[in-house]
Amino acid sequence: MSFTVAIDGPAASGKGTIAKALAAHYGFAHLDTGLLYRAVGRRMLNGERPAEAALALTAEDLEGEDLRGPDVAQAASKVAALPGVRAALVDFQRAFARRAGGAVLDGRDIGTVICPEAQVKLYVTASDDVRAGRRLAELLARGLDVTREGVLEDIRARDARDSARATAPLRPAEDAVLLDTTTLSIAEALADAIAAVDAARA
Ligand code: CDP
Repeated sequence: MSFTVAIDGPAASGKGTIAKALAAHYGFAHLDTGLLYRAVGRRMLNGERPAEAALALTAEDLEGEDLRGPDVAQAASKVAALPGVRAALVDFQRAFARRAGGAVLDGRDIGTVICPEAQVKLYVTASDDVRAGRRLAELLARGLDVTREGVLEDIRARDARDSARATAPLRPAEDAVLLDTTTLSIAEALADAIAAVDAARA
């Protein structure tokens, strides 16, 4: 039987960390759907047409440290506004969500478009400052050459673009549990997320 946890939220809100930890806790599979858009964005930066690139993705496209950086992130949020790109990625994400044994997917439109029937929907947020600080630490630890100002600019620009687009804009599903992690530790945020999943499984 499938069981799907859909996690959405703005850039660097902590949804990936929560998604990964939830998946480990329950033995579910995890898909970071942002990587799909980042991979298409990287192909666009290399000269490919986004919709064609989205149809041609392979597992190798999801590798490489540069995939995590702000340049690729900006490209990702540009290609993510194209209906043809989004359409090309729907089937793969839905099949992943329905796999036996449970799945956690994190992104922007998982609870609203990809898996509106998900058993659990979380919408994870945090203040701009806290998100920028967390992402800065993450990117510096990965060895990327970034500044706090640059990171803040990246997440604000992407949030604005992701929220304003006509196709699958960033917004909480009506039945999503809101999780503001601004003042929460990872352990506290995870405990809240586990409580939401346990409530749905009871
Ligand atoms: O990790 P972070 O929250 O910074 O970004 P991400 O989840 O890797 O997503 C990168 C970009 O892909 C976002 O800014 C969105 O434009 C796009 N995206 C999307 O449109 N839909 C998704 N389900 C996931 C990502």
